[in-house]
Formats: sequence, C-alpha cells, structure tokens
Amino acid sequence: VAAPEGTGVARIAVLAGDGVGPEVIAHGARLLEELSRRRGLGLALEPWPYGADHYLATGETLPDERFRALARGDYAAVLFGAVGDPRVPDGRHAREILLGLRARLDLYVNLRPVRLLHERLTPLKGKGRREIDLVIFRENTEGLYTGAGGALRQGTEHELALEEDVNTWRGVTRILRAALEWARAHGKRRVCMSDKSNAMRHAGALWQRRWRELGAEYPELELRHLYVDALCLELVRAPEQFEVIVTGNLFGDIASDVGAAIAGGMGVAASANLNPESGLGLFEPVHGSAPALAGKDLANPLATFLTCALLLDHLGHAAEARLVEAAVERAAAEGRLTPDCGGALGTRAAADFVVAEVLRGC
Ligand code: NAI
Ligand code: MG
Repeated sequence: VAAPEGTGVARIAVLAGDGVGPEVIAHGARLLEELSRRRGLGLALEPWPYGADHYLATGETLPDERFRALARGDYAAVLFGAVGDPRVPDGRHAREILLGLRARLDLYVNLRPVRLLHERLTPLKGKGRREIDLVIFRENTEGLYTGAGGALRQGTEHELALEEDVNTWRGVTRILRAALEWARAHGKRRVCMSDKSNAMRHAGALWQRRWRELGAEYPELELRHLYVDALCLELVRAPEQFEVIVTGNLFGDIASDVGAAIAGGMGVAASANLNPESGLGLFEPVHGSAPALAGKDLANPLATFLTCALLLDHLGHAAEARLVEAAVERAAAEGRLTPDCGGALGTRAAADFVVAEVLRGC
C-alpha cells in the first residue's frame, strides 16, 4: 500500500489530536523517523493539525479533502493520538474525526493485542507473560455504535430512548473472516467468538450462524463460543485459554478494556483499525486524551510505541516492529516506566530509553 506508487515512499498522516495525544505521538513519530532513516524504510511522516485547538479556532473538524486523500490511497497509514477536550463538551470534533475516519474509511477491524510485557504489570496473581498473550478482533463499523436510534418525549417521565444494534450479514461475515484468517496466518489455534445470543436473539442468530458456517472452513482451528459476560470472567480468571477473540463493537470495546487491565493498563494498550481490502490502517494507542495528565510529562509512551510496532508490521517492516517490541519489553523488565506502571520516569525519559534501545539494535 505504499503511496504514491513506485516512489518507494510511504506517506503517513500523523494526527496527534488532544491532551496527551501530542506528547506521546511526538515520541512515536521520532522513533519512526529515526528507524526509517537508519533502515531505509522510506516513511514520510506528515503532521496534521486537527483536534480541539484547530476546531475551536476554525470550526473545522477534519476536512473532506483529507478523508478523500486517505480514501484514494495517498497515504499508507494514519498514526493517531487521541481526541477529546473538556473545552468541547459535546465531543463533536472527536466524533467527526475518529468515528468519521473509522466509518468513512470502512476500517472494520479493530485489532487489539493483549500481551503482558512483564509480570510486574499484571494485577493477576501468578500470571506471567506466557499466560497473557491474545488478540481481540472487535467489529468497528456497526453494532451499537452506528448512532441509529432516536428519542421521544425527552425531559419528561415518558421519555424513551432507542439505540439500535445494527448487525449485517456482510459486517458479521467480514469481521469473523478477518479473525479466522489472522489466526491461520499467525499460527494461532484457538479462536473464541463472543456474543450475547441468549438474550439478544436476532443479532445472536446471525452471529451464531455465520460463525458455524465460516468456522467449518477452518478445520485446523479450535473454535469456541462464550457469552460476553462469561468471556469477561474468563479473561480475568484464566486468560491463558485465549489466543484470538472475535466479537461485536460494544462487547469488543468492553472486553478489550478488561484485556488492557490484565496486561498493564491504558498506558500500554495498542490498537490498529484496519480495512484488509483497501490495505488502509489507522494506528492508535487505546487510551484517550487523559486531560488530567496532559502537559505534566506523566503520560506513558509505551502504548504509542507498541502502536508504532503494529504500524511497522502492517507496512511489511517486521524486523523493525520486533526491535520496537523488544525495546518496550526491556523497559518493562528494567522498570524504566512511568508512574501508571509503577515506575518513576516522566514521559520523555521513558521514551528516551526505548528510542535509544531501538537505535542500539539498528
Ligand atoms: P482516557 O483513556 O483518556 O483515560 C482513562 C484513564 O487512563 C485515566 O485514569 C488516565 O489518566 C489513564 N491514562 C490514559 N492514557 C494514559 C497514558 N498514556 N499513560 C498513563 N495513564 C493513562 O479515557 P477517559 O478519561 O475516559 O477520556 C478522556 C478523554 O479522551 C475524553 O474526552 C474521551 O472522550 C477521550 N477518548 C478518546 C479516545 C480516542 O481518541 N481514541 C479513546 C477514549 C477516550
Ligand atoms: Mg474503550
């Protein structure tokens, strides 16, 4: 997906956003640029100014032209920080930018790895790195997050609010397919589909049927189903039973926060939003803009570094992705961490350690 074709240059739109977004993305961008220079990766990072400041100054969220450039394939990937700012209480710019990108670029796969970097980071007693290593595939374009619904008689005691759970044959099929294909390509055996088909019968029937039909094409995989409440319980009780989990938008949102909690928290959770057909990807730390931490050198940069590793993998730079992951693991092993992970370093010092470690391996 390197663009423009033939130049060997992969343009990357960098949308740092609000709050701690710019602080952590600055280090991620620095790391990618250094790696690109030393290893000849041809990455061309392009800072985009959108976020709350830009919105408050201009009224603009993310211009159509930018959406179109991404949709045309002018960029190989987006590196995204976080959006959300107390000065925009209705969250309009955040919704239009992030949900807009996910929806308009049809980034239907939200891939969220849950991988423990070091024993010291999990609150689960007796669990180590071998026990916590799984990937969640969350459907990213439909389910309960489409905005379909409405309200009647607002502000009265007869108020009614409907939020529709949208499940399409195509949407369900492609997220199940993405998870099954990923498991096959990455040598994973266990794939668990999760829904709430006992209580949500209409959506559940579709998910269940497509799961059985598609699953039959993967005889080498060990397939399993759990209701989502049981999934959350099992993730905490015995996470070692999972390798790949696939589920809908809401359940994936919730289960991946449970996943983040058992693997070290928001400061280390990375994610990719992908469209496997167009090849486009938006890569972001799972965390938000953390306004309380912003500007205080307190944000953990590791989630962003692990996000950069996902981006490098996506662009075919597996060796460099492994270098980044190894450097982050080293930071965890040596306790070169920010306070959210029990360390005493600031954002910059924690980031400097990882960047130096990566460059030492180049
Ligand atoms: P949040 O992820 O910003 O913060 C949740 C908790 O995690 C807080 O205790 C925060 O201090 C901590 N945390 C977050 N990032 C961290 C980091 N890098 N290092 C250490 N600790 C970190 O979620 P919250 O507070 O619900 O939302 C804050 C704002 O961010 C809101 O405006 C929200 O809408 C927005 N948001 C944006 C997201 C995105 O851009 N993808 C995702 C989630 C929230
Ligand atoms: Mg969430």
